[in-house]
Amino acid sequence: MAKLLAQGAEAKIFKDNNSIIKERFSKEYRLEHLDHALRQFRTRREAKVLGKLADINFPAPHLQNFSDKRMSIVMDFVPGEKLKDVLLRGDECGRFAQEMGEKIGKLHAENIIHGDLTTSNLILHEQTKELNFIDFGLSSFSDKIEDKAVDLFLLERSLQSTHYDKPEMFEKIVESYRESSPQAAEVLERLQAVQKRGRNKAKE
Ligand SMILES: Nc1ncnc2c1ncn2[C@@H]1O[C@H](COP(=O)(O)OP(=O)(O)O)[C@@H](O)[C@H]1O
Ligand SMILES: [Mg+2]
Repeated sequence: MAKLLAQGAEAKIFKDNNSIIKERFSKEYRLEHLDHALRQFRTRREAKVLGKLADINFPAPHLQNFSDKRMSIVMDFVPGEKLKDVLLRGDECGRFAQEMGEKIGKLHAENIIHGDLTTSNLILHEQTKELNFIDFGLSSFSDKIEDKAVDLFLLERSLQSTHYDKPEMFEKIVESYRESSPQAAEVLERLQAVQKRGRNKAKE
């Protein structure tokens, strides 16, 4: 029997043996055909990206199957704790920051934008001790420097609110991201412009 593990803003997550079923439910306040199109798009996108990640051996749940009628994705269960919980318990963030920078760099080098980088969407695999990335419903394929910079900027924002006691964490991520690919320096330069825009917006 499948057991409800989590219910987010967009989807219900069920666990059935070693599988996870992610089912996107309809949102009453959205126009019906729009809601359908959006759920279908995100389901397909998440499935497509998970397939691509398996091809390049990136640590993420393996896709088993999906249905854009039932709006569901079946993938492997990743055993372990969310990085968010590991860090809130007080674990040292340095090692994880280093690994995050390296792996986000690898995603970006493959022109995959995660779209929702947070420590809730990272699971520290119990056996391999490696960070696994999940939640690719907002992801996209893009080779644009701007899209990669914004991906990092949203991560910085999320860290500022969830892990405000670890202000050094994002710097460490950036340091290791810089080493990850030849394009990284350019992305980080753009990040500064995005940050500046963000600050000006906050003042308005
Ligand atoms: N493959 C998986 N293995 C283990 N846990 C998962 C997996 N996918 C999702 N979860 C759990 O369900 C939660 C919500 O799933 P997620 O894909 O992040 O959807 P949401 O869009 O609701 O954040 C995650 O934070 C995680 O705890
Ligand atoms: Mg999530």
